[in-house]
Amino acid sequence: MKAVTYQRYGSPDVLEFREVDLPVAEDDGVLVRVRAASVNPLDFHFMRGTPYLVRTQTGLKTPKSEVLGADLAGTVEAIGSDVTRFKPGDEVFAEGSGSFAEYACVKEDRLALKPKGLSFVEAAAVPVAGLTALQGLRDKGRIRDGHKVLINGASGGVGTFAVQIARSLGGEVTGVCSTPNVDLVASLGAHDVIDYTRVDYTTMPRRYDLVLDMIGSRGLASNRRIMKQSGTYVMVGADMGDWIGPITSVLKVMIASVFGSQTMRPLLAKAKSEDLNTLGALIEDGEVAPVIDSVFPLEEAQDAIRYVETGRARGKVVLTV
Ligand SMILES: NC(=O)c1ccc[n+]([C@@H]2O[C@H](COP(=O)([O-])OP(=O)(O)OC[C@H]3O[C@@H](n4cnc5c(N)ncnc54)[C@H](OP(=O)(O)O)[C@@H]3O)[C@@H](O)[C@H]2O)c1
Repeated sequence: MKAVTYQRYGSPDVLEFREVDLPVAEDDGVLVRVRAASVNPLDFHFMRGTPYLVRTQTGLKTPKSEVLGADLAGTVEAIGSDVTRFKPGDEVFAEGSGSFAEYACVKEDRLALKPKGLSFVEAAAVPVAGLTALQGLRDKGRIRDGHKVLINGASGGVGTFAVQIARSLGGEVTGVCSTPNVDLVASLGAHDVIDYTRVDYTTMPRRYDLVLDMIGSRGLASNRRIMKQSGTYVMVGADMGDWIGPITSVLKVMIASVFGSQTMRPLLAKAKSEDLNTLGALIEDGEVAPVIDSVFPLEEAQDAIRYVETGRARGKVVLTV
């Protein structure tokens, strides 16, 4: 099969589009014929092997797994002997690994049936970003009906899902983005949009029950200022640096959580079928729709990753196979 591979860490130039062996599903795995795969910041961290901490997972000197990619949507080709919930021919979406390829294997508990009415391109946009937004708002943020929610990074992959999910869970949403994305964020259901090129959101008088922060562009003390005394701050993205990545930021959030009445939490999103099903239901109910920035053919994965690395994507960038 054809796949986007890397045998050393580095810029998108290390990627090769070439022939590799077909993966074989384990007993609890499903072989999926990939129709579309979306790009996440996770992919370029794996590709570059930075922050270096990721190499404890991906291989210290060279990548352990040669095919890049996590998010996918496609059709079940074959199932392992222990798989009970899927059968060949099912249309599915998942967060797995090695998805920038014609075929990928995914564990059964990271897979769900593709929401009805969604194309493969749209479904591939959902897993990592949608799961992160859902788990950040619902599990870490404990969002409630009527909560005032601020979403920093509202126009990106995670942010475009977060605005819609927060709204569907009863939140009164303020999105933060740059000038060209104000209309997009408002169209997703944000009650208010702050253009960070004109105003520092942490200087505004409004107080929030929940701040979901994909960017980490303002310090914790500044974020605390705009939170209610009972408010919660969820750190989704932060300054990565080249070495230990978000660990310093996570530690700062954990230390900050000891002081004061406000709750400060880091998030590490997890791939789970049940949460993919929850996202699928929100999509089928018309509460949430993936926002697609652009679509590239699989063989142009280098360009797609270069674009996502600019940090300017509006919604999701998807590869078609
Ligand atoms: N903790 C976890 O489990 C987890 C899971 C997934 C992702 N993440 C992290 O979450 C972050 C966001 O991921 P993503 O997929 O949404 O990335 P993305 O799609 O690449 O985000 C791009 C967006 O960031 C916005 N942005 C850039 N600078 C900004 C600023 N100063 N203020 C507000 N918005 C700004 C851009 O909007 P403008 O062009 O309008 O500036 C753009 O729309 C990444 O750091 C990623 O690594 C964490």
